[in-house]
Amino acid sequence: MSTLTKVLEKNVAEIEKNADMTEGRFRLGHHLMPPMGWLNDPNGLCWYKGRYHVFFQYAPFDVEGGLKFWGHYTSEDLVDWKYEGTALYPDSPYDCHGVYSGSAFTEHGKMHLFFTGNVKIDGDYDYINEGRETSTLHVESEDGIHFGDKEEVISFEKYPENFTCHIRDPKVWKENDKYYMVLGGRLKEDKGAVLFYSSENLREWKFERTITTSEAFGYMWECPDYFELDGQKFLSISPQGLKREEFRFQNVYQSGYFPVKEDGSVSAEDFQEWDKGFDFYAPQTFVDNKGRRLLIGWMGMPDAEDEYVNKTIDEGWQHCLTIPRELTVRDGKILQNPAKELEGLRKEKTILYDEKTIMEVRVEVNEGFDLVLEEINVTGSSFQISMGGQMIFKYENNIAELGFSEVSGAGRTKRRAKTGELKNIRLLADTSAVEIYLNDGETVFSTRYYPDRDDLQLKIMGGKFRGNFWNLRKMIFTK
Ligand code: FRU
Repeated sequence: MSTLTKVLEKNVAEIEKNADMTEGRFRLGHHLMPPMGWLNDPNGLCWYKGRYHVFFQYAPFDVEGGLKFWGHYTSEDLVDWKYEGTALYPDSPYDCHGVYSGSAFTEHGKMHLFFTGNVKIDGDYDYINEGRETSTLHVESEDGIHFGDKEEVISFEKYPENFTCHIRDPKVWKENDKYYMVLGGRLKEDKGAVLFYSSENLREWKFERTITTSEAFGYMWECPDYFELDGQKFLSISPQGLKREEFRFQNVYQSGYFPVKEDGSVSAEDFQEWDKGFDFYAPQTFVDNKGRRLLIGWMGMPDAEDEYVNKTIDEGWQHCLTIPRELTVRDGKILQNPAKELEGLRKEKTILYDEKTIMEVRVEVNEGFDLVLEEINVTGSSFQISMGGQMIFKYENNIAELGFSEVSGAGRTKRRAKTGELKNIRLLADTSAVEIYLNDGETVFSTRYYPDRDDLQLKIMGGKFRGNFWNLRKMIFTK
């Protein structure tokens, strides 16, 4: 181990020593968060040797971001998690300014990680067209915990000429005995695009083609993913530079997917956003041992701090991941639903009757809860769920709206989505994060929020339904 690695390891251990992931008003009960400092994208998601592995972009030294490492969690059941410490340090000439995002590929008992090494050259550069070196790197592991030497598999010098220096976030998979990789990129004409590579051996990679839209759909596409679901191929991207609209693209950056056409092309008009909430970006999917395709997103948003903040900064940590969501397809659209295992967190059940016009339940926000309303029949002019006025979900005329009070939103106001008729809702509330699934997971809102009380009155108004409510136990973190 190099001296640099030793120094980094020692300093991270020093910071984490004092981290208590159960201590702090906004520490979460069923969402993965960093022990200390900053978390962003989920990385290297996989099922390997009997456990789920979730790596993440981790900046332990600075709650506002900065130098990126890979943090690491494992779980046998997607419910309780073990923090495995730092998997990758920015300790090589290829990644000394950050071990950026990437993916895992497992085969023949080995775990392979592919990721981007970020190097910024000192000098007067714009860091878009010049001054940045972002090679694609690879490491291998026999146990999923210890990793071998970093190897450069695609040098930044070998990327196609028509791209800027912004190329990153490899996602690798296998199809018909061949390996494939997509990388996110920014073309010199300020147009987002994906680079598509193939390989016979995971080491030598051949550039095949660029995938982009006919007109620019944003200037940069980050964190691509490419997968098949129900016989249809999909390309997921996190585009930057789309114009805000009333019902779409309401955040500073977006993320969503295109169905890939027979000829391998994608069209802007087919783009579907993954999530309509304030805090969702850079998702990644993987297939587990049960054959399910699961998705985890970053419950955060880059460059949003002028609009809204996270009150966890005062506790020394920032951001979390979404819960794992199972993906299925209905009428060409991807449905997202909480992985079944999350039901394992449920405590005693309360059945909610819909006879009254206003249904009231007292909830412990400091524990988290799971609310399921089915067979909704809107009888009033609008259907509403209010959590003590701090978070209000409203549905009216095929439009769903999620709004926050000034205190709990910390700058978050409201987000809207066109949904069609509202039939069912699943609301998973954590101490400072909420995920709302509408119409069997056709529309999802994910948002951080900061209620100023531990117990709130939940009011459901304006409709009939069949409902169940559970308080949740907190997941167990071991270190
Ligand atoms: C997305 C992203 C990736 C990059 C990583 C760096 O949030 O910008 O493109 O690899 O974060 O942390």
